[in-house]
Amino acid sequence: MKRRAAVFFLVAVLFAAERYDQPYRPQYHFSPARNWTNDPCGLVYALGRYHLFFQFNPEGAQWGHMSWGHAASPDLVHWTEMPVAVRKDAGVMIFTGSSVIDRDNTSGLCAKPGCIVSIYTGHRPKSASAPQVQNQNLAFSNDGIVWTKYKGNPVLDTGKADFRDPKVFWHEPSRKWVMVVMLPRERKAQFYGSADLKRWRHLSDFGPAGATGGDWECPDFYELPIDGDAKNTRWVLKIGLNPGHFAGGSGEQYFIGRFDGQRFTNENPPDRTLWVDYGRDCYCEFTFNNDTNPGAPHALGWMNNWQYAGKVPTSPWRGQMTVPRTLSLRTTPQGIRLVQMPAAAIESLRERAFTVGGSDVDSLNAKLAGKSRNSGSFDLIATIRPGAARRIAFKVLGAVVGYDVRAGLIYVDRTHAGDVSFSAKFPSRTEAPAPLRNGALKLRILADRSSIEVFADDGLAALTNLVYPKSPAAPSLSADGTVEGIDLQLWQLRSTWQRSQIR
Ligand code: FRU
Repeated sequence: MKRRAAVFFLVAVLFAAERYDQPYRPQYHFSPARNWTNDPCGLVYALGRYHLFFQFNPEGAQWGHMSWGHAASPDLVHWTEMPVAVRKDAGVMIFTGSSVIDRDNTSGLCAKPGCIVSIYTGHRPKSASAPQVQNQNLAFSNDGIVWTKYKGNPVLDTGKADFRDPKVFWHEPSRKWVMVVMLPRERKAQFYGSADLKRWRHLSDFGPAGATGGDWECPDFYELPIDGDAKNTRWVLKIGLNPGHFAGGSGEQYFIGRFDGQRFTNENPPDRTLWVDYGRDCYCEFTFNNDTNPGAPHALGWMNNWQYAGKVPTSPWRGQMTVPRTLSLRTTPQGIRLVQMPAAAIESLRERAFTVGGSDVDSLNAKLAGKSRNSGSFDLIATIRPGAARRIAFKVLGAVVGYDVRAGLIYVDRTHAGDVSFSAKFPSRTEAPAPLRNGALKLRILADRSSIEVFADDGLAALTNLVYPKSPAAPSLSADGTVEGIDLQLWQLRSTWQRSQIR
């Protein structure tokens, strides 16, 4: 009898794994079928697909044996997991980096021009006979499936213990490859230039500046138009910080300025810190290289925090990505700011639309409660005119997504939401500025079984938080006074996982 139960359990677990249907399994965010992931890396659009590589442990659900896992997607939401692309070997782990299309075969590595060259940090841990070393290396692929490590690796080695996470791109005005790479302990971004991806010349350093309370990691660097004006652009230098994020643990900041092909100049005072995401769970957000599709640039990050990433209660995988986001710059009274909104592809997953206009709290709740089939994966857009209310709060996956009207702050409180027991650092409340515009608050909330991403003020504020609810109850609203009016649209989001997509 016991044996039968065990066999049944095993079959159920395997079946759930096949269907990507375990408790907390995100339905439209990427997570590997099994094992550990942290940073996305090497993001590139190539051969008609988005390629997402990710820090991956092929051997278990804890950090270790770091290699580049690989998934590909035509649209940023339907991912097919592929064989591991770049595997740890000879004691060298494959840390975070980037991928480029070598259109003119400058590296000489392509079978024909246009192959994918990935630039990663080789990490050799300290041993009895040698200290830790991190250096920069190449691997290349002609078919987007199989990667070969370059025989002349490493291509950039300064003998340093901490020197990692190269972001490489082609800089057309100066006709060269540019690498931004971190000196984590020194809180510095180093810029290098190269004609062939193999020989690198030091160009300049940036930092320390902004927040310096932890290691600097995972740089991204890209040029964006301001307010949609292609003639007026700025460069964004995004840097991960571990720990030292204002909300606790790891998180990210960005600098805005100009780049002349040699040097980045920060436009803001050196002590000004701009946060990428105000939640606890967005780290190493990267843009896709070579992406000229509508909505580009697109970016996604690791939806986790180093404070508790090794303890989150998911199995047989651990780690997932944020929703793909489309990035832009907007002029605000405080200066130019980064704007993030969910990529348009999310809208293709919408089903069972539910709309109310000019509603009050009670009738809205009555209608929402009637939505008995809530999958825990949904997209909610609300415009709320607070009227007499001072505090308005949605209940989402057991957490509170609230608005403090007087302070103009949007917050996510998961202190009492479901399972918070696995780490004392997990229960928390995070907040972001989101002033009313024309007397109204506009919110977009994406929920996906174990995550809540809130975009307020048309994308000027993003808050990304994990949550492990007991059950995916339908969202509901509360307020401490009479709300003037609520317009709300809610869609369930279809799962993007199909058996055939899981290799
Ligand atoms: C950031 C990071 C990177 C490093 C990778 C190792 O999360 O520490 O700096 O390349 O993770 O997995």
